[in-house]
Amino acid sequence: MEPVEILGVLSSLTPDAYFQSSMSGQLPRYAFFHKALCGFKREIASTSASSEEEYGAKVRKRRKKMKRLKELLRDRGRRLARMTALDLGAGFGIEALLWRGMGGGSVIALDRQPCALDPNCRDQMRQWMAAVHASIEEPFDPAQDVRAVFRQKGVEWLVADAASVPVDDESLDLVFSISSLEHIGDIERAISEVHRLLKPGGIFYAEWSNFYSLVGAHSPGIVDIPWGHVLLTPDELRTLSCELNSVSEDEFDALVGGLNRWHLRRWRETFDDSLWKVHEWKHLADEGVEPLIPLWLIDRLPRELTIVDLVTDDIRALLEKR
Ligand SMILES: C[S@@+](CC[C@H](N)C(=O)[O-])C[C@H]1O[C@@H](n2cnc3c(N)ncnc32)[C@H](O)[C@@H]1O
Repeated sequence: MEPVEILGVLSSLTPDAYFQSSMSGQLPRYAFFHKALCGFKREIASTSASSEEEYGAKVRKRRKKMKRLKELLRDRGRRLARMTALDLGAGFGIEALLWRGMGGGSVIALDRQPCALDPNCRDQMRQWMAAVHASIEEPFDPAQDVRAVFRQKGVEWLVADAASVPVDDESLDLVFSISSLEHIGDIERAISEVHRLLKPGGIFYAEWSNFYSLVGAHSPGIVDIPWGHVLLTPDELRTLSCELNSVSEDEFDALVGGLNRWHLRRWRETFDDSLWKVHEWKHLADEGVEPLIPLWLIDRLPRELTIVDLVTDDIRALLEKR
């Protein structure tokens, strides 16, 4: 079938009918659909990098984000070297390293399961390290112990849950968090922890993905129906992904299971204006996807969602503790 025909078929179907067709193998998988129609935007690819080039590209993307943070802080007259920081949901610790590389003060990299310290991720970590060092034009010895590199660079690891952080009240000037807030289960408590940790006037900078966007379920191919995850309950989503799309339970848990499914209004209202001064709040649009929204979805959109939820890819915020 041509992509346009596929779109015609899909938009005339209800999710139930699509579900049936998908089961009987009559319709192509979402990944195919997505690639055929949205090739202009994203490639269907695994979320983990594999080649030197891919690691390089991922590091460049993170550098761009950290450079934006640096500029926003400088615009506000903050002196980076004097700022004590915490990277919330640090993962591989790349942003924490980049923060130090751009002259930032001491930084705690917090994660409840840091990939950086996981022996199973050692090879991956070396590739990340090589790419980070290449980006700052510093030599990197692959035989070097990764933990030692973090220590040398002034990054301290803290294995803890974001909802309960063993760090003193009002001890930090900055908390930043890249691609992590949507993964934190008890996000309400995590946000109040960030508020507690910051000094008055301290900055919280975050960029995270919106669950209700086209690929908000985090991995194309996890669910066959475009925006299907918006209507499915967590259990239905698991059934569809694991039983029908052959996604393993572990992969599902790692990619989708822990997502907190907050919608845009809920995110914004949580940053109460009496506690936070909002300097920047941006919904970054998923360009070109609005015409792809199926009619059945608009008809059944849950009350708390709007079209903006469906077309917003990422949210970016710069907040100051009052
Ligand atoms: C997609 S990764 C992002 C990692 C990194 N910031 C980056 O941009 O590459 C999300 C991270 O959030 C962490 N995370 C999820 N829930 C958490 C929690 N409750 N407390 C601390 N870290 C959490 C995960 O372990 C994971 O490393």
